[in-house]
This record gives sequence, structure tokens and C-alpha cells, in this order.
Amino acid sequence: MCKLIAWRRVELHAIGSFVLSFADSRLSDQLKAQVGERAAAMVEDGMRLGIGTGSTAEAFIHALAARVEDGLNIIGVPTSVRTETLCKKLGIPLTTLEESPHLDLTIDGADEIDPHLNLIKGAGGALLREKIVAAASNDMLVIADGSKVVDTLGAFALPIEINAFGQRATMMALERVGAEFSMQGGLSLRMDAKKASYVTDGGHLIVDASFGRIDDPTALYDALLRIPGVVEHGLFTGLASRAIVARETGIELLEPV
Ligand code: A5P
Repeated sequence: MCKLIAWRRVELHAIGSFVLSFADSRLSDQLKAQVGERAAAMVEDGMRLGIGTGSTAEAFIHALAARVEDGLNIIGVPTSVRTETLCKKLGIPLTTLEESPHLDLTIDGADEIDPHLNLIKGAGGALLREKIVAAASNDMLVIADGSKVVDTLGAFALPIEINAFGQRATMMALERVGAEFSMQGGLSLRMDAKKASYVTDGGHLIVDASFGRIDDPTALYDALLRIPGVVEHGLFTGLASRAIVARETGIELLEPV
């Protein structure tokens, strides 16, 4: 409260945008809770589930836990250590892809969703496990608020998971692919809160690539994977068959055009 008063003296516009963004984030939390509940309602008894990572996935996990407490019988494979910890805390039964290599449905969030249900994922750093789990599933359901829906992917920086070995050579190769695909921004190595390189659950690094727009996700998909140091990237194509999107005006079910 004291801080707010101090800021108001210095910069009135900053106060306005703080209040607005606080209201936006509360609204966004409500929208995430709505899609989370809707997705949990679509889970059927006996399903083997891929369980996503991120704030929207966490809203789903809470709603799923409530159904499990009411007797729903499912088993889940978490897509990150963070998700695994939350599921365990909430009593959701878990397994691994080693024990259960074929799943019925993965439910996960996204950073961007285009009209073909191509996705950018990985802001939470879990893209490798998320993609492995989604690819091992019969179906992938995306859950998001309306801010994630775009005409063309690429305004959101594309996370690319790379091996720490040879990272400079890999970055140079990424620059070349970036130039080939008219990357408008640059590459940046993701840092953690302590300003050290961010390390994924798999022990790799993440480079965020600001393309601006990605006109041909399939071609970029392949070009990135041709770089040996690239472990995986956050372009998800041909995996999601449906998306539940919450907007202030209501909930929509999107299917690819
Ligand atoms: C995690 O690595 C990501 O793929 C998330 O699923 C994605 O960033 C969406 O996260 P939010 O639901 O927190 O926006």
C-alpha cells in the first residue's frame, strides 16, 4: 500500500497500468479456472492422461483433483517436475511413460494457438516432456484464455531447448535458420531468477527466438531439428485436435480449420 502511494507521486500512468494489469491478471485467473474445470469435466473414468505444465494446466489439475476425490479413476503422466509435485500434493495418481507408454489424452496449456491448432509452447520450460507426452497420446486438448489465440504464430518468442555442449555453435546455427525464416527479433539464452542459465528438467538450456511471425511452421519445425545441438523446440504441429478457450464472452471449443 505504501509503495502504491509512493508510485502515484512519481508516475500517475504507472499506477493506472498497474491497477489495470492487476485486474487483467485476476480476470485471466478466472478464465483459466473456467477452462480448467471444463477440461476436467471432459476426462472419462479409466483414462490414462498426460498432464500439462503452466498456470492454465495447474487450474486444470486442481479441478481434476476435485474429481479424483469424488471417485474418478484415472492415472496421469506429469509433463514436468513442477506438475508432478502439484499432482502428488493433491492426490492425483501418477505413473510414467515407461509403465504406461500409450496415453488416451493430454491436456495442456499453450503460449499461442493458430487456426490450424499449431501451437507455441514452452514458456514454462517444459516443452520437451510436454511434446513427448502429447505425442504418446491419442489426443491432445489445449486449454487457454482468449489472449493465446492468434492468426499467425510468432509474436511470442519460440522456446528452443538446446544441449549445453557446443551452445555457441548451436546459437550460430540458430541465427542462420533465423535469417532464413526472416526472424525479426533476436535469440536470447533464457536466464533463471538468479541470473544463471535456466536449466530444464532434462538438464538442457533454452533459447527464446523472437521470430515476429512464423509463416511456415512446418518448414521451421524441420529446419530447427536439423541443427544437432537442438534437442527439441516449442512448435507443436499436428498434435492438438481441440482447444477450449475462455473469453470474457464465454467458452469456445476450437477445432482445426
Ligand atoms: C510450459 O512449458 C508451457 O508450454 C505452458 O503450457 C505454456 O507456457 C502455457 O502456460 P500458461 O498456462 O501459464 O500461460
